[in-house]
Amino acid sequence: MSMLNLSMEEFKNEFKAGKITVAVYGQGKMGLPLANIFAEAGANVIGVDICEEVVNNLNKGINHITEEPFLSELVAKNVKNGTYHATTDGKSAAEQADIMIILVPTLTDEKGNIKLLPVYNVAEIISNGLKKGNIVITEATMPPSTTESLIPILEKSGLKLTNGDFGLAHAPERTMTGTALRDIKGQYPKIIGANDAKTLEILCGMYETINSAGIVSISSIKGAEAVKVFEGVYRDVNIGLANELALWCEEHNVEALEVFSSANTQPYCHIHTPGAGVGGHCIPVYPWFVINSSKELNPRIIKTARELNDYMAYHMVELTIKGLNSFEKSLKNAKILVLGLTFRGGVKEFMKSAAIPIIAELNKWDADVYTFDPLCNADDAERFGAKWVELESNKWDAVIITSDHLEFKNMNLDNLKDNMTIPLIIDGRNTINPVIAREKGFTYLSVGNYKL
Ligand SMILES: NC(=O)c1ccc[n+]([C@@H]2O[C@H](COP(=O)([O-])OP(=O)(O)OC[C@H]3O[C@@H](n4cnc5c(N)ncnc54)[C@H](O)[C@@H]3O)[C@@H](O)[C@H]2O)c1
Repeated sequence: MSMLNLSMEEFKNEFKAGKITVAVYGQGKMGLPLANIFAEAGANVIGVDICEEVVNNLNKGINHITEEPFLSELVAKNVKNGTYHATTDGKSAAEQADIMIILVPTLTDEKGNIKLLPVYNVAEIISNGLKKGNIVITEATMPPSTTESLIPILEKSGLKLTNGDFGLAHAPERTMTGTALRDIKGQYPKIIGANDAKTLEILCGMYETINSAGIVSISSIKGAEAVKVFEGVYRDVNIGLANELALWCEEHNVEALEVFSSANTQPYCHIHTPGAGVGGHCIPVYPWFVINSSKELNPRIIKTARELNDYMAYHMVELTIKGLNSFEKSLKNAKILVLGLTFRGGVKEFMKSAAIPIIAELNKWDADVYTFDPLCNADDAERFGAKWVELESNKWDAVIITSDHLEFKNMNLDNLKDNMTIPLIIDGRNTINPVIAREKGFTYLSVGNYKL
């Protein structure tokens, strides 16, 4: 069926009646929730992934994104109903689908070089099955211009975009792991930029059926790509600003969080939260999509914020050294417990986790480094260069908190103190109340709260 010959109402009726087939390429943290929301809303959905194990499990109704609340139930229900199935055969999925969505990783390497091979691979596969009247959507976050750079690949199908043979759009995923189902269903409006008015109309109809917060249509595909990238850049730069102001607060002996929350009572001020650094494969990655796609502009603020945010892990080690020195102890041979290997609480994701450079730096100074994370195991600890321990099983000279897991927020500080030779906490995620920690006799240091 040609999507581009339908009115929006006709499309919605066909969609709800299960007559539209949607193929979602990439069944990871974003693709799997999205595919299953479409299936729940009535579409016939094919989830495509290169990982055979993931696909086999999904076809048995087994969800592999276990951090996502309610996703297991939804996948099991859709597989049972026959509205969702998974495959590794992307070409056959494209042959069957009316709408193809690309939601695979878009990353950078250590130096910020953009890595988009999975996107181009998927476009190539789709071109083998693309038919007249289909619509191809990119939902993965991408450097502006990427979606349009897929046109020559998609046109290998023999179809021509400018003839209106197929539609092309960008509709970025505006969510994160742990709240994806909630967010996709209507926490924020859906951004859509399409190549023509007809494609835009049909996609407004499709996303309205799953997103109760409505649609923001953007006049170009490139503009829609920029929206999502800029959201991430805004966060990174503002966290960088918060970190810089927090470093100033340390130097001038004022408490950053108290100053920030007071300043933020004025409606034009939104100072973010300082900390050990910015992790994950979104916020620290997207600034490079702007920096490395600029030809004439040299994006100074964005670059500086990125550098500063990466520096914060080393600052955590500086705070540790200062804390230990105040007890006349050096870092060499100090027994340090790093609490948290993941980049944030509740999600097993290591990409640019602050713990990784912190452990490496501590090892460089010959500290004796241990780690614990409720989502990890001894193999993870070994991979990042630390020894694995259970939470309260040793005598620590310092505890460094790098992830805001609930288990750390709810930690029994009295038990912790009994397991420390020096009662020193360096909190990179503001997980512990400094007043309570200090009342219990800890030396508590955090980014922007330096009181020895
Ligand atoms: N995770 C988040 O919180 C989040 C939030 C918003 C946007 N995004 C963006 O969404 C996109 C996807 O991220 P994610 O978190 O879902 O990634 P992910 O790593 O969790 O999942 C990606 C999936 O794609 C599969 N894949 C890789 N190459 C493929 C190919 N050629 N064909 C088919 N499948 C392939 C992988 O096997 C994996 O299952 C990225 O652009 C990311 O920046 C992520």
